Amino acid sequence: MFVIPTILIVLWTAVTHSEQARILASVPTPSYSHQIVFRPLWKELAKKGHEIVLLTCDPMKENIDNIRQIDMSIGYQMMEKYEYNKLISTEEVNFSIFNKMMEIVRAIQLEELLLPEVQQLIHNKSEKFDLLIYESAYSVHIAFAERFNIPVIAVSSMDVPLYIHSIMGNDVHPVVHQDLGNVLGYQHPLSITQRVVSVLFNGLINIYGLFVVNPMMDEIIQQVFGKDSKPITELMKEVDMLFINVNPVLHPIRAVTPNTIMFGGGTHVDTVPKPLPEGIRKFLDDATQGAIYFSLGSNVKSNLIRDELRQVFIETFKELPFKILWKFENEELPNKPDNVMIQKWVPQADVLRHPNIKVFITQCGLQSMEEAIMNHIPLIGLPFFADQPANAIMMHNKGFGVHLDHTKLTKEKFKETIMEVINNPKYKQRSVEIADLLTDVEMTGLEKVVWWTEYVIRNKGAKLLRNPIRDLPFYQYYLLDVIGFVGVLSFIVIFGTVKISLLIYRLVRQMIVKKPKKN
Ligand SMILES: *[C@@H]1O[C@H](CO)[C@@H](O)[C@H](O)[C@H]1NC(C)=O
Repeated sequence: MFVIPTILIVLWTAVTHSEQARILASVPTPSYSHQIVFRPLWKELAKKGHEIVLLTCDPMKENIDNIRQIDMSIGYQMMEKYEYNKLISTEEVNFSIFNKMMEIVRAIQLEELLLPEVQQLIHNKSEKFDLLIYESAYSVHIAFAERFNIPVIAVSSMDVPLYIHSIMGNDVHPVVHQDLGNVLGYQHPLSITQRVVSVLFNGLINIYGLFVVNPMMDEIIQQVFGKDSKPITELMKEVDMLFINVNPVLHPIRAVTPNTIMFGGGTHVDTVPKPLPEGIRKFLDDATQGAIYFSLGSNVKSNLIRDELRQVFIETFKELPFKILWKFENEELPNKPDNVMIQKWVPQADVLRHPNIKVFITQCGLQSMEEAIMNHIPLIGLPFFADQPANAIMMHNKGFGVHLDHTKLTKEKFKETIMEVINNPKYKQRSVEIADLLTDVEMTGLEKVVWWTEYVIRNKGAKLLRNPIRDLPFYQYYLLDVIGFVGVLSFIVIFGTVKISLLIYRLVRQMIVKKPKKN
């Protein structure tokens, strides 16, 4: 009597279990903004019954059902050890910095992977997963896919270097797209000099990646995952999908394959506001003339920037009729004006919701910009490194803010810009328009990435969507064989034609020359 119901129950659990996957997710970058972008994805997948083991530098405070977090905050200690924040807060962007940053990234990855909990995961023979989601900037973590023999989704909290786009088979034409989120800062149309520089720059970055960065990372993979591990270039060929925090409203348009999902546009911005801490709330409530929120993000530290620059900030703020909330990492700010409040940590998205906020002075990190736009706050950009300079140019061109160069900033210029952005309504209007465009979508960024993650789980990968370009050898992609073949053929045809023509010409001439003699 009970046999049939029992079979039904067994069948039913078997069906539901096959849909519920065990996901290994890794976000190794010790940077808050990189972490928060993906939190809604982890939470949503967990809510749908998937089990997630999350390797993260900023474990979420709350305990969430189905999510086990492995704390990799040792990454932050490594950044401190190598004085990463000082590097990016003080120096100008150049090649030696770039090299140093790669060195730090290498050290961080190694330390994170040698953590006992991570080691346990790698060496425990009973561990099984159905999917790897890893942050592409820390490429070593792709080796987990080989370790567990599972499909892979690469994710990024911003646009990815051309190298990754190229691996997916996306458009990487050097005249249309400049590498590293356009650190060159070019605007279309490019001049001939800019086109030449862009081609050379993209080429150099590619060579640097292939011959310097990848071997460095392969060494770590061999050390951590074993001598037989495949090299990164091989592993990358197997990436099933790429999720990037990019949106066509904010970023340049790029032709991409169906397995590249652009989920950008404020996906991480919480739709449920949280009340502000009492001190900040009162400070902003009292700002009847208006308030300015000032933060250089979590990587550039206000206490590490040049003294003269900090002095420009203080002198300018002193003369303003507004209140200024400044995210500042020390207890004390010497000569702090009365209208300025400093806070080590600020619930940024909620502060930007406060009705008295008139402008956000920012380093132009993508997440900060998205939070500002979603709350219709115009921006003043003081970019420092990474994608910030390109984001600042984009913001300036789209008209929802003004881009300033912190290396040349004066009190006069700073004050004039603040007054302009607050008093001229055009900046806020543009912000509203951009926010409207960002929300005018067929489905939200979060819905997209959740749907595609489950697609990869259901189909055990996404090989169907693979661009055949990915499997072409270098010489075929660049048509070297075709050009060679057509070249040789054309040579033969032209050479042959010339030869035959000459022969005919000589014959005819002989006949003509001989004719008169006969007459
Ligand atoms: C190894 O992994 C299995 C499956 O996740 C787990 O049940 C077990 O506790 C792990 N072993 C150790 C020593 O942690």
